Amino acid sequence: MSDHRLSAIQAANQVDFISHSPAQTERVGLRLGELLLPGDLLLLLGTFGVGKTQLVRGVARGLGSDDLVTSPSFVLVNQYRASPRFASLPIYHVDLYRIAETAELATLGLDELWSGEGVCLIEWPEPAAPTLPETYLAIFLQHLSETKRQIRMAPFGKRYVELLNAFKETTFS
Ligand SMILES: Nc1ncnc2c1ncn2[C@@H]1O[C@H](COP(=O)(O)OP(=O)(O)OP(=O)(O)O)[C@@H](O)[C@H]1O
Ligand SMILES: [Mg+2]
Repeated sequence: MSDHRLSAIQAANQVDFISHSPAQTERVGLRLGELLLPGDLLLLLGTFGVGKTQLVRGVARGLGSDDLVTSPSFVLVNQYRASPRFASLPIYHVDLYRIAETAELATLGLDELWSGEGVCLIEWPEPAAPTLPETYLAIFLQHLSETKRQIRMAPFGKRYVELLNAFKETTFS
């Protein structure tokens, strides 16, 4: 498929909206989290303090987790546990901002996190770009003002087109 055609499909399937508060961003994450399945991979893109961790917090809540969601900046990977309703699946919360070199990336065994029985969310995924699978949900966040953020979700692959369709149904109808 040509790149042009591919981007047309993406544009048609992407979801774009504005969050007016941290709570609203968390709710977006929650709606998404409720729909996740083992093996799902979500990439969170956007600058410092834009709300990536805030959205992950919602995803964990959506999966019924009460675990404390904090920035994994120093440890690189945090792990939370979904509720029994979601088979207690592991939620891997990765932040690659501090990754120093490619060799260190290899030691993280990221591919096991996104091809296993858990769901995987990555903040600052750029260093992992060469090793990422072809299918994932990309979530772009952008500052509009102190409390407003633009959130754009773009699906790469059929699974994520379906995920976003389900998300639109539960969130906007
Ligand atoms: N609409 C909004 N959505 C999300 N966060 C918001 C919003 N408005 C204000 N905020 C504030 O922005 C900050 C977002 O912090 P958060 O840790 O989620 O950012 P981040 O993108 O993970 O940053 P980093 O790259 O440093 O990890 C919080 O202090 C939150 O209260
Ligand atoms: Mg963060």
